[in-house]
Amino acid sequence: MHSVLALETSCDESAAAVVRSTANGDIEVLASQIASQVQEHALWGGVVPEIASRLHVEAMPFLVNAVLRESALPIHELDAIAATVTPGLVGALMVASVTGRTLAALHQISFLGIHHLEGHLASVYLGNYSPSPPYLVLLVSGGHTELIRVGPHGLMERLGRSHDDAVGEAFDKVARLLGLGYPGGPAIQAKATEGDPKRFSLPKGKISMPSGGFHPYDFSFSGLKTAMLRIVNGLRASGGALPLADLAASFERVVAEVLVEHSFRCAMDHNLNHLVMVGGVAANRRLRQLMKRQGEILGVTVSMAPLKYCTDNAAMIGAAALGRLQRGVLATSCETGVAARWQLERADALYESLPAF
Ligand code: KG4
Ligand code: ZN
Repeated sequence: MHSVLALETSCDESAAAVVRSTANGDIEVLASQIASQVQEHALWGGVVPEIASRLHVEAMPFLVNAVLRESALPIHELDAIAATVTPGLVGALMVASVTGRTLAALHQISFLGIHHLEGHLASVYLGNYSPSPPYLVLLVSGGHTELIRVGPHGLMERLGRSHDDAVGEAFDKVARLLGLGYPGGPAIQAKATEGDPKRFSLPKGKISMPSGGFHPYDFSFSGLKTAMLRIVNGLRASGGALPLADLAASFERVVAEVLVEHSFRCAMDHNLNHLVMVGGVAANRRLRQLMKRQGEILGVTVSMAPLKYCTDNAAMIGAAALGRLQRGVLATSCETGVAARWQLERADALYESLPAF
């Protein structure tokens, strides 16, 4: 049994959590708090890095105090303090990383630097049904769209990815085009509920392979975005109000269909009968429904991160840290900095004695 204080500030959510592993391997979230900056960034139509860093600095002490109090665990009884160290906005990442390392040094506890995507992957373990490897993960967030095979001992292999925009980014850009505000995913979902998802036919982006044919698992969302732009421009030129609900519903349907088709094809081709979905876009209602339905049709088990742990939070960073502790990882060098980019496949390097960056 281990317990961890986890911190997350890689983008526009400041978050802290205390999590604990139980004797039977489950994870208990003793406290989890998020101070969202969405309203401040919405004024600018997207995340402003300098504003993000400043707001993280303001929020972090309050969040740490609040979760420690709520968990009723004295800090010196924790096994580790974990913080996201990559990937993300450098100035923002530094806030959780420096806070975590300082607290760890002060209380002589281990510090674990966590890869943000490993956190998203671990978020499924915060739900009722934990998958056991090997399984396939569809990771869909604001910065990533990836299909990852998770094998025994946490071994990860990327089998599919987006060649241009991440799917969350496509939601955000299309929402801006439709004047629906930031963040785009929840705004499009809300508008789409009143719309006709079949009203507009939109392209499902394909990636050509040098050997001919199309890549079965990779994604492209730029063509879909351009098609939306063309339709909107055409409708504007002909006058009248935009059918926002139908546009949002059609876009959401095509995105969900592409994600579901590629994921199940990849799972079947690789003989994986368990599919996991995590990341901010995994909160999308239509996508969740379609995933479940397709899983039932094809006899593939589908597990998804609980709704509240799809978008950025610190409980998932704690869950990833518990996974590392369970596999015998003791600490990240306190000299490790933060990095804007770092491949998930190289996350093990965060725990080598020489700092990875
Ligand atoms: O995982 P996340 O919180 O942050 C990153 O690591 O990127 O994902 C944020 C993304 C944003 O692009 C947001 O628009 C999208 O997730 N998102 C959604 C929904 N909720 C958040 N997209 C579609 N439907 C939603 N309900
Ligand atoms: Zn994220």
